Amino acid sequence: MKGLAYIHPVLAGVTVLLLGYVGSLGLRARNDRRHAREYLERHARLAPIMYTLILISWAAGFLSTWLLRRDLELASSAHFRIGVALVVVLSGGALSSRWMHRSTIRALHPWCGVAAMLLAAAQVFFGLQITP
Ligand code: HEM
Ligand code: HEM
Repeated sequence: MKGLAYIHPVLAGVTVLLLGYVGSLGLRARNDRRHAREYLERHARLAPIMYTLILISWAAGFLSTWLLRRDLELASSAHFRIGVALVVVLSGGALSSRWMHRSTIRALHPWCGVAAMLLAAAQVFFGLQITP
């Protein structure tokens, strides 16, 4: 049974790598005008998959702590709170992506993404401290 507790850290680790890649595509599109179209298409295609995996990772972490990690207190760690913040800012990214034709939204959207990438780095750090 203990092995099941590794599902969340591994899934979430892969998801964070995908988040970094998706974010880098968005940022590269701004700095490399020649390939911008191509990068943005890939960004827009992969981002919803990454967002879904983040939601699944969050739920898996919660369930894993609740059902398998009796040694941890549920919903009281820094890892838990940063996880909530990560879901909130990425939801901002996902929502804002529907109105990218408006220039204010277009300017705001990448900041949700940058915040998500910083939070994800912190999330890995705090996650590694509670590995089974
Ligand atoms: C490499 C990245 C990560 C590692 C190593 C990691 C590790 C862990 C570990 C070891 C646990 C305890 C449960 C268990 O042993 O399975 C946990 C819980 C949790 N994780 Fe992660 N995690 C990572 C990324 C994430 C991400 C990206 C999210 C959010 C989307 C997240 C959200 C949560 C939540 C909500 C809990 C429950 C915490 C609590 O109730 O206190 N984790 N994580
Ligand atoms: C990882 C964090 C993210 C970063 C750093 C990021 C960054 C960016 C950047 C810089 C742009 C280009 C803006 C411009 O044209 O000037 C962009 C566009 C876009 N992003 Fe994101 N983004 C992130 C997450 C997301 C998410 C979660 C979604 C949706 C679920 C999303 C969907 C889109 C869409 C649809 C566009 C417009 C693409 C187009 O014009 O063809 N992004 N993003």
